[in-house]
Amino acid sequence: MTGSVKLIYGDQEFKLPVVEGSEGEKAVDISQLQAATGLITLDPGYANTGSCSSAITFVDGDKGILRYRGIPVEELAARATFKETAYLLINGRLPNREELTRFSVLLNDNSLVHEDMRSFYEKYPRSSHPMGILSSMVNALRSFYPELQNLEEEINMTVTRLLSKIRTMAAMSYKISRGHKVVYPRPDLAYCANFLNMMFDSPVKPYEIDNDVVNALRMFWILHADHEQNCSTSAVRLVGSARVNLYAAISAGIAALWGPLHGGANQAVIEMLSDIAKSRNMGRAIERAKDKKDPFRLMGFGHRVYKTYDPRARIMKKMCDSLLNKLKISDPLLDIAHELEAVALKDDYFIEHNLYPNLDFYSGIVLQAIGIPTNMFTVMFAIGRLPGWIAQWKESLDDPNWKLGRPRQIYTGPTQTQFVPIDKR
Ligand code: ACO
Repeated sequence: MTGSVKLIYGDQEFKLPVVEGSEGEKAVDISQLQAATGLITLDPGYANTGSCSSAITFVDGDKGILRYRGIPVEELAARATFKETAYLLINGRLPNREELTRFSVLLNDNSLVHEDMRSFYEKYPRSSHPMGILSSMVNALRSFYPELQNLEEEINMTVTRLLSKIRTMAAMSYKISRGHKVVYPRPDLAYCANFLNMMFDSPVKPYEIDNDVVNALRMFWILHADHEQNCSTSAVRLVGSARVNLYAAISAGIAALWGPLHGGANQAVIEMLSDIAKSRNMGRAIERAKDKKDPFRLMGFGHRVYKTYDPRARIMKKMCDSLLNKLKISDPLLDIAHELEAVALKDDYFIEHNLYPNLDFYSGIVLQAIGIPTNMFTVMFAIGRLPGWIAQWKESLDDPNWKLGRPRQIYTGPTQTQFVPIDKR
């Protein structure tokens, strides 16, 4: 505890303890507030509420800092593999060579999906959104790979299964949706290359692995790997707080991520840029985004925490430019994105509201260059975010202050009224 906050309510005075994190962020601990005063706090969207203490990810939204377990995301994006990053988030430290080899072997050993699950995929309507399919398939995994007891060893096995199978399941859903033969995982390929091969290899056109594409995917997934208590992670923690199994908690996270204000924004950005390309009217998009009567927002802009340039967007933008350059792709949407960013960053509305490009602004263009279809964009985000969700879920299991998540409310409905029988209404 570092000091306290004085609260005067009626003729009484209360002291609320202030707690401090390792980077100096401070919070008023209100856990005893209701018991002591009868008051609760009201904070729509939890914009001022810390739901837990966490040692996983540090974000400074004013300075544009993001670190996983203390390591700047810039360093990880430049030098780490996605597997190492996942290990770091989940286990709290980077693996040594032996641990990394063991982890790789386990990921390979668990990469196949039970053949009986294939019939589920085949029965989905072809027009189904892959996020809906992924969310239910991850939940269904529990029936095929149950944990018999809540032992650490079994939990670790579930973690590995999920990390490995999510790639296979995502690629399977793509192949089946196109009516193509499923491509099985290959033990000789590393995590990112294996996924790309399952997505794009075919008997008529073998997939040629391109190191620049693999590297782009590696960076894409590392940049998405965790982002403290965002909407989907909070969903994982809240659902997990009922002590459901990990598959069910992750399935809830995938469902939350699907929303266009969250992970679904990467798909929405491409749709917005394509609309601008068609209408050739960028000014109208900017004006609509500023019009309070119009629900339209500039997708890929703004963030709850970052009030400066999202550090992930900075890396993504650079990588996007360099990838398209290397692949010799000239994407008109990239030109529109650059121009839109330049116009918005000079516009008073965006300046006053601290609205900068977020992670999703350039990520869709990267995914398009890799060959990922638009409706799979958010699935790509989900695969990247999985290590973070798992790490946060594990941390909550071990939290000595763990409690079932159960917010309160201020009731604004009718006061007590009498039931009126149907013939008298
Ligand atoms: N375009 C236009 N105006 C915006 C935008 C935007 N993209 N984002 C925020 N604003 C405005 C709001 O209209 C509001 O204006 P007002 O104060 O004059 O009424 C103000 O900025 C604050 O907006 P809020 O919605 O209260 O801020 P919040 O922190 O809840 O929003 C959010 C964050 C949801 C990300 C928002 O910026 C947004 O909708 N962005 C577009 C969707 C998007 O890109 N989502 C991806 C987020 S990153 C991620 O999930 C990986």
